[in-house]
Formats: sequence, C-alpha cells, structure tokens
Amino acid sequence: MHSQKLLIQKTADHVKSLLSGEGSGHDWWHIYRVWKNAQSIAIEEPTANVHIVELAALLHDIGDHKFHNGDETVGPRMAREWLERHNILEADIQHICTIIQELCFKGAGTSSAMSSIEGRIVQDADRLDAIGAIGIARTFAYGGHKDRLLYDPEVKPVLHTSFEDYKASTAPTINHFYEKLLLLKDRMHTKAARRIAEQRHQYMETFLQQFYKEWEGN
Ligand code: ADP
Ligand code: NI
Repeated sequence: MHSQKLLIQKTADHVKSLLSGEGSGHDWWHIYRVWKNAQSIAIEEPTANVHIVELAALLHDIGDHKFHNGDETVGPRMAREWLERHNILEADIQHICTIIQELCFKGAGTSSAMSSIEGRIVQDADRLDAIGAIGIARTFAYGGHKDRLLYDPEVKPVLHTSFEDYKASTAPTINHFYEKLLLLKDRMHTKAARRIAEQRHQYMETFLQQFYKEWEGN
C-alpha cells in the first residue's frame, strides 16, 4: 500500500480504538462521517492537500473524550504525539495541529477563523455532521442524555452571545435548532459544503414543520 494511504488507515484504526464506546456525540462514527464529508468537499477544492485534510479530520476530536469542556491544548498535543511516531514533516504536523486547535477554539460569539483551506474543509465537514437527518438524531440523543424536554412552546429560543451561556442552557431540544443548527448553512466556507448544507437545511425545516403539525394533533 502507498505509505500515505497506509498512514490514513493506521490513523483511522488508532482513533477508532481511542473513541469507540464514547457516548457524548464524539464517538468513532462521528469521526468517520466527518472524514467522509471532508473527502467529498475536498474533491471540489483543487488547491487543498487531501492528505492533510484526511489526517486532520480523523484527529480533530481526539482530545474531546478526556476533557469534554476543558483543556483545548489536549487535542493538538495528542495528535502531535501520534504524528511524530510516523515520520511526518514537521511542517505538516504543525499544519494539522493548527487546524485542530482552531477547531477547538470556541470563543464568545463562537465565530470561526480557520487559517487554511484544509482547515476550512474540516470545519465544514464537522458542521455538516451537525445538520440534516444525522444532525436531528444527534441533537435528540444529546437532549435525552441531558434529560431535556423535546419541546416546550412556552420556552422561546434565544441567541447566545457567549459560549458559556450557550453551554449552560437547559432549554428544550427543539430550541437548539434555532440557537445553532439552522444558522450553520450560512457559515460554510466551501461551495460543496454550502450545496450539501442547503439540502440538509431544507430537511430540518421540513422536519420542524411536521413536528409542530403533529404537536397540535393534525
Ligand atoms: P460539535 O461542536 O462538534 O458539534 P458539540 O459538543 O457542541 O459538538 O455537540 C455535539 C452534538 O450534540 C451536536 O450534534 C450538537 O448539535 C448536539 N448538541 C450540542 N448542544 C446541544 C443542546 N444544547 N441541545 C441539543 N443538542 C445539542
Ligand atoms: Ni467533531
């Protein structure tokens, strides 16, 4: 096997063994889907280094299982540790770790600055996994895990201006669509992701219409 393909396969196996059994929404199959999304997006981005994109996608949540709300330096450090065992150019290691670090960063307003095309692709791929049918499933799984109501017509959605407020919210799960998921399609960087997001967004809108209809008994 070509050495780049071999490294991708080894990295996938490594991440899978670290994250399997993880129930927080960052299980191996989240990584798998982000990896596949990233490949689909990269096909339409001729200037992107696909090898970097794949490695960054595979390693992007590697630190999350240990310190869920905490230390943002864990992910890049664990990724570096793994990559240094495999004879990769320091510049490439640095590039991948920068992507992971920029992805982890969730400051006030949760605005996103990704400094490379490879990083923008991985961020788009990660965000695509939060919307559409998968996004709906993940969101209700999260809400169930946190004991949230499905919906409460008396609790209106709010737009959080800080990441702390956003994380502290105990609002019903439907509110999360308005607080985050429906905003994601306009935050995509690449044209492939914008197109895929458009379709997944439509699917969530249809779901919500049907949900309210059923809520009122028709
Ligand atoms: P990410 O930023 O990688 O999407 P999060 O930890 O924010 O990761 O969320 C993981 C999953 O849980 C996502 O699908 C997200 O939409 C969902 N989620 C996060 N916060 C909430 C919430 N308050 N209510 C419902 N679902 C949520
Ligand atoms: Ni992720």
